[in-house]
Amino acid sequence: MTENRTEKVVEARGRSFFNEPDAAGLMHRAFTRSLGFDRADMNRPLIGILNTYSEMNNCHAHFPELVEAVKRGVWQAGGFPLEFPTISLGEIYLTPTSMLWRNLAAMDTEEMIRGNPMDGVVVLCGCDKTTPAALMGAASADLPAILVSGGPMLNGHWRGQTLGACTDCRRLTAEFRAGNLSEEEFGEVEENLVRSRGHCMVMGTASTMNSLTEALGIALPGNGAIPAADSRRILLAEKAGRRIVAMAAEGLRPSRVLTRKAMENAITLLCALGGSTNAVVHLPALAGRLGFDLPLDLFDSISRRTPLLANVRPAGSFQMEDFFYAGGVPATMRQLLPLLHGGEPTVTGRTVSENVAQSNIVDTEVIASPDKPLKSEGGLAILRGNLAPEGAVIKHAAASPGLLQHRGRAIVFQGISDLQERIDDPALDVNPDDILVLQNAGPIGGPGMPEVGNLPIPKKLLKQGVRDMVRISDARMSGTAFGTIVLHVAPESAVGGPLSLARTGDVIELDVPGRRLELRVDQEELNRRRGEWQRPQPAYRRGYGRLFLDHVLQAPEGMDFDFLLGRDPVETMAQPKF
Ligand code: FES
Repeated sequence: MTENRTEKVVEARGRSFFNEPDAAGLMHRAFTRSLGFDRADMNRPLIGILNTYSEMNNCHAHFPELVEAVKRGVWQAGGFPLEFPTISLGEIYLTPTSMLWRNLAAMDTEEMIRGNPMDGVVVLCGCDKTTPAALMGAASADLPAILVSGGPMLNGHWRGQTLGACTDCRRLTAEFRAGNLSEEEFGEVEENLVRSRGHCMVMGTASTMNSLTEALGIALPGNGAIPAADSRRILLAEKAGRRIVAMAAEGLRPSRVLTRKAMENAITLLCALGGSTNAVVHLPALAGRLGFDLPLDLFDSISRRTPLLANVRPAGSFQMEDFFYAGGVPATMRQLLPLLHGGEPTVTGRTVSENVAQSNIVDTEVIASPDKPLKSEGGLAILRGNLAPEGAVIKHAAASPGLLQHRGRAIVFQGISDLQERIDDPALDVNPDDILVLQNAGPIGGPGMPEVGNLPIPKKLLKQGVRDMVRISDARMSGTAFGTIVLHVAPESAVGGPLSLARTGDVIELDVPGRRLELRVDQEELNRRRGEWQRPQPAYRRGYGRLFLDHVLQAPEGMDFDFLLGRDPVETMAQPKF
């Protein structure tokens, strides 16, 4: 099918649904009239608004207001907006981990875009997994699409401190566990931490992924950082509504925007922001939908050449609200232009360079310039060695400098329950120089690769004032967490990766500058342990969990399902008739 024909089919998709000269057309029109719309409405381009509102997702609580703004924009531009729901993944509510359902949400997104007769779609997202799911689903459906994020929360404030979710959830819980915070003070933190709607307001996974939508060119400038409570967020949603109508007519589809170069732009921004390690899972998953690989080593090479510019927690001092006032993503991207592919197309109809040409840094304390960066390198490093032959990730921007080259004795936990049972046991033989190792917390072992990679510091060491140790696992960690934490060790323990062979008392060597992670045990002994290794029992025997275990890929491949790779653009699907 030629590009021109494809675009015509896309443009006509909604209108043909209403204008078919048969019983199907009659039903489509008659049933749509029941919603209060007439033939004139049905002759406009039909724009779907994918609403991921849920009361089980506090980060999306304000989405009804954003939906109304998008609708207003669609009507203004001559379109016909219809809202539809998909599942919503609330990071705080879902157990064992929202990551277990990211692929399900991506499928829901893709299939509802495909199944309904829209000409273009505005996808609302924001909380940790909803943005990657939106990207993946929109990429595979490949109908003109624009993402609108909910925006970050306002800063929390307590007794003169700025609080951030959830960097301070962890920091202050550690202080409470160490006995440095009273019950009353801990209760005050609870009241003052989350002041507004929106997603977590440090550069966690949500802020990272929503910022990257701008570098990917799939969202309007400003989408990453305008706070949820700011009226400009509503105006951005309205503008997206206007723009998607034009995009539907232009046939500007995600595959034209989400190019390999756009992905490299996103990785560059990720590094300059000191963003979440979870992007190192989500971006390869998105690339897989678009038909190309995004090898881990690309993250490392881009990180080595990209200066850290954003002074935002957990890798810096400020939060998303301050980052927005300082110029946000557009100002940061303008500084990065020499490292970006500035000619890539975006949903604005302009290039990356054109989008950010007028954006300036307002506060250099929050966003540094490349000639005076916070660090000359980006925040992420990819490690390899006999413990992680297919790679592991560390956010060294948020690690303790003194631990980046460290040799220590392993204290091994065989799974999450083992960790929970023993970590605070006063009898646990553990010293500050030891390395905490967690097995069986990867994609299959977790299951779902939960965010438990930032293993808690043992209580008895907390009381001695220890706040960081080297920690290694095949798990992920929240983008809001900090410490010297090696994550995503691949292959994971549950499929027999070398991590499964580590034992308490082994010596492990971490060398971040040298990008090495080694288990100092001789090969003969490792072979003996491999002979004894037994695959853990599967966590699920039926249902979605079973589907997940049977088809999930490893972390370096993005943890997508093997059968979801690639695209099936909606215009190639036959339109059923009654
Ligand atoms: Fe939704 Fe943190 S709970 S982004």
